[in-house]
Amino acid sequence: MFSATCVAPVNMALVKYWGKRNEELILPINDSVSMTLDANEMCAKTTITASESFKQNRMWLNGEVVPFEENARLMRCLAGVQRLALANGAHKLPLSWKLHIASYNNFPTAAGLASSAAGYACLVYTLARLYELPLNEELTTVARQGSGSACRSLYGGFVHWRRGSSADGSDSIAVPLAPAGHWPNMHMLILVVNDARKKTGSTRGMQLGVSTSSLIQHRAKEVVPRRVKELMAAIDSRDFQAFAEITIKESNQLHAICLDTYPPCVYMNDVSHAIVNFVHDYNETVGSLQAAYTFDAGPNACIYVLAENVPRLLAAIQLAFPNDAQQSVEYLKGIPVPPVELKNGLRDASIGHVNPNNMLKYIIHTKIGEGPHQLSDEKSLLIDGFPLPK
Ligand code: DP6
Repeated sequence: MFSATCVAPVNMALVKYWGKRNEELILPINDSVSMTLDANEMCAKTTITASESFKQNRMWLNGEVVPFEENARLMRCLAGVQRLALANGAHKLPLSWKLHIASYNNFPTAAGLASSAAGYACLVYTLARLYELPLNEELTTVARQGSGSACRSLYGGFVHWRRGSSADGSDSIAVPLAPAGHWPNMHMLILVVNDARKKTGSTRGMQLGVSTSSLIQHRAKEVVPRRVKELMAAIDSRDFQAFAEITIKESNQLHAICLDTYPPCVYMNDVSHAIVNFVHDYNETVGSLQAAYTFDAGPNACIYVLAENVPRLLAAIQLAFPNDAQQSVEYLKGIPVPPVELKNGLRDASIGHVNPNNMLKYIIHTKIGEGPHQLSDEKSLLIDGFPLPK
């Protein structure tokens, strides 16, 4: 029996991936750049056990059985890693042995926060550990075939997914841009918005976008290449002003494309827009860009902010978005934040925005983080190839 347990982080895009040129191989129409988040606050954890006695491949997600052999994306990831193992030749684990896979997210999936990136990155990384494969460009092409954004979760810090141009996808790879230690005070507040409505998933949303939006190709050809260059320079020089402006404009353009899609995909809701207004007024009041929002295919806001500015921003958010549960630890998850008194100008500006109670479900405070890593055997999620009892 062979077994490996690994943890992989979530990543949040700064320049967004939106639109595929090949659905099956998951090849994007444009480059994207992301920041990997600290796995202490949000991560996927996966144990894979291989045994000669297992009759079939099986998988459990958060304790529930998930169909494995019927899932084309899962099967493509497994086949991809096994193909690399065959080419590598060094592994001890026979390719014919079946696998049992247990995976958990340490954050509520119901929150609508991207879990597929961390999940597929963790699956592919753990398979690579089992078959003794290195983390390299080729491995990112395998994770990409689980979920596009997953290829960026294989590295920590800032990561660039190059769209590539070859038809087989071999040059559509993720590469690390700068490690987490390059900009260690880069933090994030995630405002989880109370919202129960069912939305069009990203896969479907981008399909519709590619086939109906007349703006999407302009974005891919003209806007993204320029923004990727500018963002790389901003990251390199740790220029938060430039970083924030590009991030905000990128998020807004993604949602403009979504509205230009027919029928339109509406991911942001009234609370999301109230957050956008609040952030712009906050930045104006403090006299520089200290908060940069970004929204994926959902209403939750991810706000990039430097560590030293977190207490003041959080205090202003809590004034503007009051919540009955505000004082509880459950409401503010993640890295603790010391309370601060807001000065008059900022207090007035925040109060000018006061929204009805309980528009936010909770807030997560996190920061830039490292890529995936393997855990010791005793942290296994499977005992004798079966998930631990709940
Ligand atoms: C809005 O990676 O979830 O988060 O490749 O179809 O699985 P598939 O899509 P997915 O899309 C993520 C889209 C996004 C932007 C981004 O992460 O770059």
